[in-house]
Amino acid sequence: MKVGVIGCGFFAQNHLAAWQAIEEINLVAVCDQQKKLAEAAKTQFKAQQAYDKAEEMLANEDLDFVDIVTTPASHRCLVELAARYKKHVICQKPLAPTIEDAKAMVNTCQLAEVNLMVHENFRWQGIIQKAKQIINSGTIGDPFLAQISFRTGYNVYPNQPYLAGEERLVLYDMGTHIFDLVRFYMGEVSSLYAQTHQVNPNIQGEDAATVLLHHPKGTSVAAMNYVSEVEHDEFIQIPIRIEGSHGSLEIRRDYQLNVVSNKKLSSHYVPPTNYSWGSSLGGAIMESVVNIQRHWVECLNTNSEPHTSGADNLKTLALVFGSYESAEKNIVYHIQ
Ligand SMILES: NC(=O)c1ccc[n+]([C@@H]2O[C@H](COP(=O)([O-])OP(=O)(O)OC[C@H]3O[C@@H](n4cnc5c(N)ncnc54)[C@H](O)[C@@H]3O)[C@@H](O)[C@H]2O)c1
Repeated sequence: MKVGVIGCGFFAQNHLAAWQAIEEINLVAVCDQQKKLAEAAKTQFKAQQAYDKAEEMLANEDLDFVDIVTTPASHRCLVELAARYKKHVICQKPLAPTIEDAKAMVNTCQLAEVNLMVHENFRWQGIIQKAKQIINSGTIGDPFLAQISFRTGYNVYPNQPYLAGEERLVLYDMGTHIFDLVRFYMGEVSSLYAQTHQVNPNIQGEDAATVLLHHPKGTSVAAMNYVSEVEHDEFIQIPIRIEGSHGSLEIRRDYQLNVVSNKKLSSHYVPPTNYSWGSSLGGAIMESVVNIQRHWVECLNTNSEPHTSGADNLKTLALVFGSYESAEKNIVYHIQ
């Protein structure tokens, strides 16, 4: 399968390394409006061509799909460009700055009969998948409570300086991942209540948020921030605890997954697969990126819908934008 990657900045390095690791993939072209980044990616990841204009790449190359790893403001026009050229398309999260943009993108891809997947990689970490298998097996009974958090003092701004200028920060940038996990484990949400804070005075947006989400048969508590100073900073692992009618499970630091079922404890060590090239963000990120990109290839091969298709991701984005409305108006937000 021939892929063209658009955006060769910070996070694209992980996508590009993962494409190199997947045998079926031929990295035909890379594109970045900063030509030197496209040229560097071409050399490092052995692509055949480098471009600084996405439309030129699409017009010149015979691609099976494109992979968009640019910042969100450009996502809509690039996804719609890919659809015009009848190319299947992967797009990074957050899919779009507004729900209207996101819906339009999903609609355009449906009309063009191309697949759209949002690159929601967190659920593809091995330990997160293992926890899901345990829940599906019925070991802890019916889940009624999930606590999912991403609270870190890791300095995100040197790698992603644009985040400091975002008026909507942690719910938009990280909430997309965390709400995807909430839906992955606990199903759809009927209403939510959110509170946000700006702790770091040198940025524009909220850098701490706590959200209480109601499901038909349970509750989730999602907490996220970019400011916690704690003894063990767990970046980029995600502490998760899920309680059910017959037990509970907990993802702890150092890839420890503890399961209590009918009062008996079992402990599992589920470290990420280590890839030789590594990632500045750690093995769990690399593993999740390879896994989601393999999932995409399998979906194209079997003509099936990706788990985090554009249509699916609209439900995650509804929680992000709903949380902002809840926090701004101090109301319980009901999901339509
Ligand atoms: N899943 C994760 O863990 C994770 C982590 C970091 C970033 N991200 C996401 O990845 C995306 C990219 O973030 P980043 O930090 O790599 O940003 P970045 O600014 O480092 O890289 C984006 C690149 O896209 C290029 N670009 C922008 N518009 C373009 C266009 N129209 N045509 C061609 N090139 C264009 C820019 O020149 C830049 O080099 C964001 O959506 C971000 O949320 C995901």
